[in-house]
Amino acid sequence: MKNSFTIINNRTNESFEFDILDAARGPSVVDISTFYAKTKMFTYDPGFTSTASCISDITFIDGEKGELRYRGIEISELASNNSYLDVCYLLLNSKLPNKEESKDFDLELRHRSFLHEGLKNLFKAFPSNAHPMATLSSAASALSSFYYDHLVIHSEAEYQEMARRIIAKMPTIAAFAYRHSIGAPFIQPDIDKSFTENFLYMLRAYPGGKMHRNANGEDIIREIEIKALDTIFTLHADHEQNASTTTVRTVASTGAHPYVAISAGISALWGRAHGGANESVIAQLEMIGSVENVDKFIARAKDPEDEFRLMGFGHRVYKNFDPRAKALKELQDELKVELNLDSNLMEIANRIEQIALSDEYFISRKLYPNIDFYSGVILTALQIPKSMFTPVFVIGRTVGWITQWIEYKKETKTKISRPRQLYLGK
Ligand code: SDX
Repeated sequence: MKNSFTIINNRTNESFEFDILDAARGPSVVDISTFYAKTKMFTYDPGFTSTASCISDITFIDGEKGELRYRGIEISELASNNSYLDVCYLLLNSKLPNKEESKDFDLELRHRSFLHEGLKNLFKAFPSNAHPMATLSSAASALSSFYYDHLVIHSEAEYQEMARRIIAKMPTIAAFAYRHSIGAPFIQPDIDKSFTENFLYMLRAYPGGKMHRNANGEDIIREIEIKALDTIFTLHADHEQNASTTTVRTVASTGAHPYVAISAGISALWGRAHGGANESVIAQLEMIGSVENVDKFIARAKDPEDEFRLMGFGHRVYKNFDPRAKALKELQDELKVELNLDSNLMEIANRIEQIALSDEYFISRKLYPNIDFYSGVILTALQIPKSMFTPVFVIGRTVGWITQWIEYKKETKTKISRPRQLYLGK
């Protein structure tokens, strides 16, 4: 059996052969990198629905089965048994950390969570009503000037240092952007707090760092809130070659600084077709307002003349339940009493899901709830404002972007990303 694909040009009867490369999991690929050289024609695949852009062993998605694995481990296993920081270690090092490695990694990120004093002035340059995503992408880009030596990386140790630095700083950047938007002074990270607890602390603490206390004199950042947010970070950590990761890899291919590649990824994620959907889902549920209005909006989502779309529904790859959405729905059900989740929003969301999953329009197009459909109700219960939902996605995804950036850089046969076109002009 020949391990190749033969393509025949029926206009000229010429046939061309291309190698088949087999995957460890999922579809094989046809290597068409010599297609233009052999055929003097381009392939055409806008949106890359049938195109593999790289070779990777970081994250695997089976869209038909609704399966997601980080370094081969199922997402449901990681979300139930591991902290977000251990998942960051797994993505960066291809293995989960032992106790010692986990402790050292956690401590290193606590020490790296602080921002250079000069960077703080950047936040003040923004109007208080600036969307935090604008501030995040600007701050990530500005970080490249404080750590310019990461432009050329020579060793594994430096790859790790560069990656740990931006993973550690992203929650501080996001929290400072939020504090600026409410006219409150920045709260410095507290190295006695874990990665996830620190983020909630930097959002909520009074000026000077004091926290509300409950009747028993304990900080009101509850364990259950920390666990919920930690799980949300894990579910967002990486997702193969999505639009923002492809953006990060494209910027990596030009040789620019890793932190400006992350900045470009943040900008790409902001769009409501991508990571910006989580904010739009809650805005949409609030606009729908009550269960009685759901049918009207479902009809609009189905109307080809109406550009209204159900935010949080559909996915380029998942043509089954998004396993992250499943994990979040379970988390929502688990937390609804403890965190006093907004029952009206949940009721509307459940009604949308119930109708959509039995309606021919959604079934025929294999449109299921995606990760963004459920995250917002939990984030709202964590007193995180809508404008901070996509920044929460950024905090979770920074490890995925930087891991993919490193994988690209370590690839020996890379070329600058430079697609061609079908020209229909004069
Ligand atoms: C993320 O890629 C990733 O991995 C992304 C992500 C990650 O972790 O990085 O998973 C995160 O971005 C999740 C997706 C969040 N976006 C949304 O929830 C926005 C709403 N969803 C859609 O915009 C849409 O479903 C996309 C963008 C997510 C996927 O679009 P595709 O694969 O390009 O599908 P399509 O636009 O070609 O739609 C196919 C059909 C069309 O109908 P027809 O033209 O065939 O009649 O399905 C319809 C679409 O109109 N459709 C929807 C719909 N999504 C698709 N109709 C109503 N509501 C929707 N949400």
